[in-house]
Amino acid sequence: MQLIHLSEVDSTSAFLGGEAREFPPWTVVLADRQRKGRGQQGRTWHSPAGGLYASVLLGPEVVSPVFTLLGGVAVLEACRAISGSAEIGLKWVNDLVFDRRKLGGLLAEVVHRKRLILGIGINLAPVDLPDAACLWQIAGREVDRLALLEEIVARLECWVTRWGDGGARPVIAAWSAHSVTLGREVRVETAGETLTGTATTLDEEGRLVLELPDGRRRQIASGTVRLADGRYA
Ligand code: BTN
Repeated sequence: MQLIHLSEVDSTSAFLGGEAREFPPWTVVLADRQRKGRGQQGRTWHSPAGGLYASVLLGPEVVSPVFTLLGGVAVLEACRAISGSAEIGLKWVNDLVFDRRKLGGLLAEVVHRKRLILGIGINLAPVDLPDAACLWQIAGREVDRLALLEEIVARLECWVTRWGDGGARPVIAAWSAHSVTLGREVRVETAGETLTGTATTLDEEGRLVLELPDGRRRQIASGTVRLADGRYA
């Protein structure tokens, strides 16, 4: 991997995306802090020192929406391997969860020439936010940030190869096996509405299939999921 390590930047994803034509695929930007970290659904990603903030440029042509899930599986595997905990799970669409609390998240953004930037934020040290977990506490020791990043990139490369060989199916199977969302009663906030129902499966494009109380099914492409009782996970 080609690593660009910055002490501070607005956003590692904005940095990569702004000059995407100049960076080859698999360029990785790591920052110690971000001034304007971007989160899912237009939210801010609070990024003080003590977290892992990195973005990876995938390409040359990434067209499948399943790549978002692929990123989540790769990062989950890396966090499990480095921390030694098999209790870390995935909440749709791309939150890393431990003990019903948020450990981290991914933000996938498509830029020039159908390239995908995978932005990865992971709490390493404790953070002062509600419902937040951190990797040091899970591992019971300080985790080396660069070792974690190298593990993430290795797992990403492995999953991109698997996707090339087998398409979306193995990615969706792996994501589903690690899910803390499927089978639960959830509340989904989408752009236009809030829906409550049972999260049943993911479809072939990684959309969440929700079974509504009247038995109808809805496929959700993007939105924020909480449990139906309002808890985070
Ligand atoms: C989420 O909302 O759960 C996703 C958060 C993604 C944050 C990461 S930190 C590195 C990269 N740069 C950003 O501005 N955002 C992503």
